[in-house]
Amino acid sequence: MDILVPEREVSVLADQIDRAAHADYVYMYPPRQAYRQFTEAGLDSVAGLVASSLARESRLNLYVHVPFCHQICSFCNLYATNAYLRDMQKYVSAVINEVQVYEQLTDKKDIATIYLGGGTPSLLAPKQVEELITALLQAFSSAPTVIPAETALEVDPATLDLSKLRALRSSGVNRINLGYQSMVATEVAQIGRKRSPMASLQLLEGALGVGFSNVCVDLIYGLRDQTDESWAESVAQVAAIGPETICAYALTLRPYTGYHKRGYQHVDGEVLYRRYDMAHEILSAAGYARETHVRWVRERGGYVQKANHWNLQNVLGFGAGARSYLWDVDLRNGYSVRRRRDPLDSYMERSGQPSIQVSDGYVMSHEERMRKAAVLNVTSLDRAWFNDLFGQDPLEAFESEYHELLSTGICEINESHIFLTEAYYNYRDLVSQYFFSPEVRQLVSEFDYNE
Ligand SMILES: C[S@@+](CC[C@H](N)C(=O)[O-])C[C@H]1O[C@@H](n2cnc3c(N)ncnc32)[C@H](O)[C@@H]1O
Ligand code: SF4
Repeated sequence: MDILVPEREVSVLADQIDRAAHADYVYMYPPRQAYRQFTEAGLDSVAGLVASSLARESRLNLYVHVPFCHQICSFCNLYATNAYLRDMQKYVSAVINEVQVYEQLTDKKDIATIYLGGGTPSLLAPKQVEELITALLQAFSSAPTVIPAETALEVDPATLDLSKLRALRSSGVNRINLGYQSMVATEVAQIGRKRSPMASLQLLEGALGVGFSNVCVDLIYGLRDQTDESWAESVAQVAAIGPETICAYALTLRPYTGYHKRGYQHVDGEVLYRRYDMAHEILSAAGYARETHVRWVRERGGYVQKANHWNLQNVLGFGAGARSYLWDVDLRNGYSVRRRRDPLDSYMERSGQPSIQVSDGYVMSHEERMRKAAVLNVTSLDRAWFNDLFGQDPLEAFESEYHELLSTGICEINESHIFLTEAYYNYRDLVSQYFFSPEVRQLVSEFDYNE
């Protein structure tokens, strides 16, 4: 991640906006590039930080990372590694072991959401998905037979057919996230995925009839060889079928990915902003409402776990590569795009140990927590919510920041919210960086992608 707003200077921000600089999607704060390995003493205190975070709230969100994939896509900087059937059941058992370690640290909770992400969790058998959901609810839920209203699973459309989708629905999953990325055959081939576009469209149409309460489709703009026209075609095709949620992400390019190795290292900001505008126009015309700068929804659409994370609820993660976002600490359990198998092997080796196993993270402070609230909710910050959490109006907590943003017209204010002016909405990730603390900017700038 490039820090494009290195100082809290509104003129620097305005200059970057004028130049159509495009910042990476800020979906967590501090960004993972600010994470560092814990010292031994730090590691010893992690269990206490987890327990104190969980004790604050009766609600809890649960995440399981399933790092297996059929192929490694050219753009992929997520934690994923090639799948071997023999690994799957051992992995499910290891995750359940880990769940039982964390279970000791908390009383039972109201489980708001469960999210199985990846990787490609749709490679698991429906029975294994059910086993995971059951284990999570038994360990953490005060009502273990009740499936949370958002129980979600990420799906690679190339990995299944309608009958498996039906079986997943029966295993408790009520939201699916279909990672299409593009509906154009040449682009799909270019990212290294094998999928027939006709089969894809049929699967999406069929998925809407399976009984999920929320079907979400992910698309990416900025893909290699994508044109404005082909992007518009992808968005329009999905909108015409009408899933409840459509996400459109600007491409993030990272070292050591396939794209990077093959020399695709820059996408023009103007192109990205234009494609964002195109998506917004097509989706608005199709009746979708913009929920965030990456997500458009209709009816029961949305992404509750992400919204809860951004509202500073606890999200507890399990599995190799999983992250937890907790009140007192952020944690991660391995990551590598260079040696993709290593974090999985290390996770499996450590399975069965009686204490929490994590690789790195960030211990939160009062100030960083307030920044997290401002950074993640920069498009619309609820002043009463902020005040309830921190005992201060955000205008008071970040007096000079908001003074500058309001006086330049980047932000507006009313009695209840501080929000980005419509003309600046798509610069959300740049404006987010304006609220990064000096320490986090420094850590991110020093980060070495040689991981
Ligand atoms: C957590 S990922 C889901 C991973 C899932 N295995 C997949 O690829 O379908 C959620 C979404 O983020 C988006 N995404 C992943 N890597 C990206 C990248 N490098 N740049 C932009 N968007 C990306 C994709 O749209 C993906 O579906
Ligand atoms: S983009 Fe998704 S499907 Fe492709 S390798 Fe990464 S995690 Fe797996």
